[in-house]
Amino acid sequence: MSLNGSIRVPSDKSITHRALLFGMMSSGTTYVKNPLLGADCRSTLEVIRRLGAEVVEQDDELIIKGIETPHSATLDCGNSGTTMRLLIGILSGYTGSFELIGDASLSKRPMRRVTSPLREMGAHVNGEVAPLVIEGTSLKAIDYTLPIASAQVKSAILLAGLRASGTTIVREPVLSRDHTERMLPLFGAELSISEEEGQRVIRVEPSRLTGTTVDVPADPSSAAFFWAGAAIIPDSLVTTTDVCLNETRIGFLRTLERMGALITISNERSVGKERIGDVTVRTSELSGTVIEGEMIPSQIDELPLFALVASQALTPSVVKDAAELRVKETDRIDSVVTELQKLGVDIVGTADGFIVKPSRLHGGDVTTYGDHRLSMMLQIAELMTDDVVHIEDMEASEVSYPRFRLDLQRIQRKIE
Ligand code: S3P
Repeated sequence: MSLNGSIRVPSDKSITHRALLFGMMSSGTTYVKNPLLGADCRSTLEVIRRLGAEVVEQDDELIIKGIETPHSATLDCGNSGTTMRLLIGILSGYTGSFELIGDASLSKRPMRRVTSPLREMGAHVNGEVAPLVIEGTSLKAIDYTLPIASAQVKSAILLAGLRASGTTIVREPVLSRDHTERMLPLFGAELSISEEEGQRVIRVEPSRLTGTTVDVPADPSSAAFFWAGAAIIPDSLVTTTDVCLNETRIGFLRTLERMGALITISNERSVGKERIGDVTVRTSELSGTVIEGEMIPSQIDELPLFALVASQALTPSVVKDAAELRVKETDRIDSVVTELQKLGVDIVGTADGFIVKPSRLHGGDVTTYGDHRLSMMLQIAELMTDDVVHIEDMEASEVSYPRFRLDLQRIQRKIE
């Protein structure tokens, strides 16, 4: 079995969430071209409808009529941490009462990282995990240094800052994905970015947003499964087109390069404020590597996949400084280690990462625990053995990639 072909993976999850939420907050109309319509972004779509936004789904486009004042409502964020954390920031500064709920996984994820700085701004938020209740009120600006590299926390504060009195300042010692800062000025927000004493400093002024057009590129976190598959499955050559090449998102591609993967990037161009291009990966001899420190945020969602790739390298690999993995959709250290061990991978978990040694995979019964990224990683792992791999809860991949299995089957070639 090899992987051969060209594929435009579904659009970016982080960018789609933001385009929908900012569209809801804007006066006038927002056009979101090529949105992702996986389960997470559908949660955001339903939420903005409940808040009062009018959304028309048409071909490959969502047309959003924004609102001045959101309706008080109970809002189901499903499995989506981005929906919930960004909403807490947005809704805290409006008038109204909002209850945020989520599925079993989301109801366990920590919200204090967002509620704590927002309370400093004057927000009234009850609860530290979902369900949470927000009583909208007037907010004041803060000057906040992020204690963890998190785009969700950064975004929640900046979005609250749009409705606060004064200049809201967020200082980032370690850079996290920057789609919010790139996109907000397109909606008319007054925002500036500077480098001060080794930190990235973002300032946002109280601003009213105006609808605009957002063209959403392909998601590098979805393309990553094909890059990984092409690199480790013999005789493979796969091109993923129109992928977002924002440096805060492609740490995994840089890791593959460092391991010796044969990668070409072509057709590079800009769409809106994002760089995009086509990425081709072919089967490669890989050496092990270490991922740590500032390298983590730009590939945090790809680390479960990295564990599989590392098992096919010629030398051991280590991931450290990635304790954030423990508070994702599942504890992605425990779940990855447990499931890959079942397939014969020599991997051990540590407090903040894992150590992987070169391994030969065999069949087995594994579960995704309902985690989309685990599901897709295990579906690539399945291709590394001729034995049967049974994956429980495989449909979890629909959270970010509705037709993953079909796309994966489409580019599989039998080797005679
Ligand atoms: C996201 C930020 C990251 C990432 C998540 C999406 C976003 O989370 O893991 O999948 O769209 O802002 P953190 O901000 O918690 O690191």
